[in-house]
Formats: sequence, structure tokens, C-alpha cells
Amino acid sequence: MWTGRFSQATADLVLQYGESISYDWKLYRHDIAGSIAHARAQLNAGMLTQEEFAAIESGLKSILADIEAGNFQWSIKLEDVHMNIESELTRRIGAPGAKLHTARSRNDQVATDTRLYCRAEIDTTMQLLQDMQRALVLKAEEYAEIRIPGYTHLQRAQPVTIGHHLLAYVEMLDRDYARLADCRRRVNVSPLGSGAIAGSTINLNRAAIAEELGFAGVTENSMDAIADRDYIMETLFCLSVIGTHLSRMSEDLVLWSSAEFGFCTLSDAHTTGSSLMPQKKNPDVCELTRGKSGRLYGNLVSVMVAVKGLPLTYNRDLQEDKEPLFDSFETISLALRVNAEMVAAMRINPERCDAAVSDPLLLATDLADYLVRRGVPFRHAHELVGKAVAIAVGSNTPLSQLSLEQFQAISPEYGEDVHSVFNLDRAFQLRTNPGAPNPDNTERRIAYWKQKLA
Ligand code: ARG
Repeated sequence: MWTGRFSQATADLVLQYGESISYDWKLYRHDIAGSIAHARAQLNAGMLTQEEFAAIESGLKSILADIEAGNFQWSIKLEDVHMNIESELTRRIGAPGAKLHTARSRNDQVATDTRLYCRAEIDTTMQLLQDMQRALVLKAEEYAEIRIPGYTHLQRAQPVTIGHHLLAYVEMLDRDYARLADCRRRVNVSPLGSGAIAGSTINLNRAAIAEELGFAGVTENSMDAIADRDYIMETLFCLSVIGTHLSRMSEDLVLWSSAEFGFCTLSDAHTTGSSLMPQKKNPDVCELTRGKSGRLYGNLVSVMVAVKGLPLTYNRDLQEDKEPLFDSFETISLALRVNAEMVAAMRINPERCDAAVSDPLLLATDLADYLVRRGVPFRHAHELVGKAVAIAVGSNTPLSQLSLEQFQAISPEYGEDVHSVFNLDRAFQLRTNPGAPNPDNTERRIAYWKQKLA
């Protein structure tokens, strides 16, 4: 592609070191679409005859068909996907192929291809996010009113429900969806026409090319367009947050499926055994998801570090953007699919949940609220309940079983109806504010999600 100026062939090690075809071949569909749009703009500018354009278009389409059929020979001598396809085109159709690269550089070409790839993968990821949400909503509905302790510091805190807990993840994934939709707007701009750095003296219709490729507009500065990898960092950040959410859910499920908690049972199809211990049933999917979140952050950090010191505009360092990007999309896509399937197949064990949530200490805060309703300032109420808890724990008696006399010995503010606090129905019904784990809220939210995700 650049023999004119050179008197030596590129060294083998340099070819090996610099090739990107082993991974950027994945851009082939976008590269071909970009080239067809670019050729059409050349046709419309009078730079290609109808016949030349037709030869380019059908040549590129036949290459596309061969790649998809697995009949295409990629060569590292041609470095990347752009040169592999262009050189094969010229081999197939002759002279018109050599005109294709007019007013274009691999710099704006790779930026175009990567944006198209990102956009397509964002769309897929958004669908997979919704599939995951649907699985969680159905599971939340199935076990909406099963009560469990909610935890802070992994210590029992206050009662919640399986429905409320699972819907928390649906909210997170909804933000992830919105974040991707927003990111997509910045991805979806056409850099084509920026050339190597400074546009071209041959002015093709950038807007028409952008429209053909489904871009919402064109970039406004050729140097920025060539150098910009924000859209990749942003995408990798969005995927990292999804990974974080799935990782936190995984940790909950690792705990829930343990013998100690026993809140849920994961299906045999989504767990693995031990090669040594015959009794084991391990939540590997959860652990892998937790582990893979680190890899997603690594990909984000790789790209940020690769870009941070680069002078404008293109530098070869930027070739290092693709493997992390591809890897993150592939990782998140599998993670969402396998987790959706695992959640759908998961069973909740109501007896174990009931046993755990029957701990009356979960209602200690409700007891303080009871005193507040009787006029005791909250800080003081907190102290009076703390004392009752200390007696209960010290005498190995459930808090709810302390006698009226014991309560009133702590403070006369405890009334005869103090034991009415120890009622989970009451505890949930009193929490009427939006966002609280009240069964009506949960039901409303489930209906909301079912409609939104329909
Ligand atoms: N394979 C290159 C990349 O991924 C394409 C752009 C090459 N541009 C260049 N000036 N060498 O970045």
C-alpha cells in the first residue's frame, strides 16, 4: 500500500507486531458498508462512473458473502481489515478498486468502522439488558411477598421482600440502559471525510455518507474526529457499570445459595460440581460474573491509559483500543445472557426465608418508631430500644418475648400495646412511602416494569 517511498520490505517481526487483522477482522461488515457509502459519494461527485461504482459495490458484496461463508483468507501482510478488504477488491475487480481510497484514510475509516461496530453492539447490549430485567421482574413477581432480612454490613438490618430485593437490580439495569442510550448519541456521528487529519481537497458529500450509514450527523473537527476515542472509553465505562451491577447481584446469590442462608437454590444447569467433593454444588456463574467485572474495568483503564498522552491526532497506539472494546462487549453479552437464564431457573426457598425473617431484632427500628409516635424524641427512643435489645441478647430471649414489665422497667414510655410492633404485616403496611418495600408498591412497580418491558 505504500511501496513508492520504501526500498525495503517490512520486517517479519514488524508485521507480526503491528498486525491487527487477527482481531479487527470483526469489523468487516462495517468496513464494507462504509466503503460502499464512500464509493457512492464518489459516484455522486462524478469521480466514479456508474460501471465503476457497480463493480466496487458488487465486488465488496461478494467479499462480504465470502467472509460470512468462512471462505476468506485474511493475511497479516495486509495488516488490518481495511487493507485486506481493499486489496482483495482490487484483485477481484481491477482498476476501479484502486479508486476506492480517494479522499479517505485508514484513520477516518477505522474511526467510522469502530463507531458502527460500537453502535450495533450497544443496540444488542440494550436488548440483553432488557431480557435480564424481564427475568428479574418475573422472579420478583413469583416470590413478591416472600420476606427476608435486608442486610447492611452483611448484618441483619430490617425486613424486606424477595420482590423488593430483586427489583433493586431492575432499577440498576434501567440506569445502565439509559446510560447506553445516551452514550449511543455520541457514538453515532460520522467521522468519514476527516481523512488522515485535515479532510481532503476532494470534497465528497459527508452528510450523504453519514445518512447512508445511519449516523445522526457528521463530526465537526477533522482532528478531533481522528483522535477521539471518548466514545470507546464511555462505552467501556457503561459496560463496566453493568458488570458491577451483575457482580453485586452475583455476590447476593452466592450468599443466598449457601447452606448458611439457604434463601435460594440455583438450578443444576447453572451450577457446577467438584471433582473431589461429591456433595458440592458451586455457584460458578456468579463467581465468574464477579471475576469478569475486573476484566471489564481493566479494558476501560487500558484504553484510557493508551490515549492519555497522545499528541493530536492519530498515533498507532490507538490500534490498542479494539481488543479491550471487543472483549468487553463479548464479556457483557455472555454475562447478561447466562445470568438471565440462571435467574429464570432459580428457586426461592420460602421456609428458609421465613425462618430468617422471623428474627424480632429486625423490628428494633420499628420499635423505636413506635416510641417516637408516642412522643419520644428519636435519639432517646433509640437508646430505650438499645437497652431492651441488650436485655434480650443478654438473657437469650427474643426481643418480642420480653414482658411488658421488662419493657416498662426500661421506660414507662413503653405502652401496653408494645408487643403489637412485632408483626411483620404491620411492619410492611406502615411503610407506605414510594420506594419502600410495601407489597402494594412492589405490585405497582412490577406492573410498571412489565408494561415498560413488554
Ligand atoms: N489498524 C489501524 C488501527 O486500528 C488502522 C489505522 C491505521 N492508520 C495508520 N495511519 N497506520 O488503528
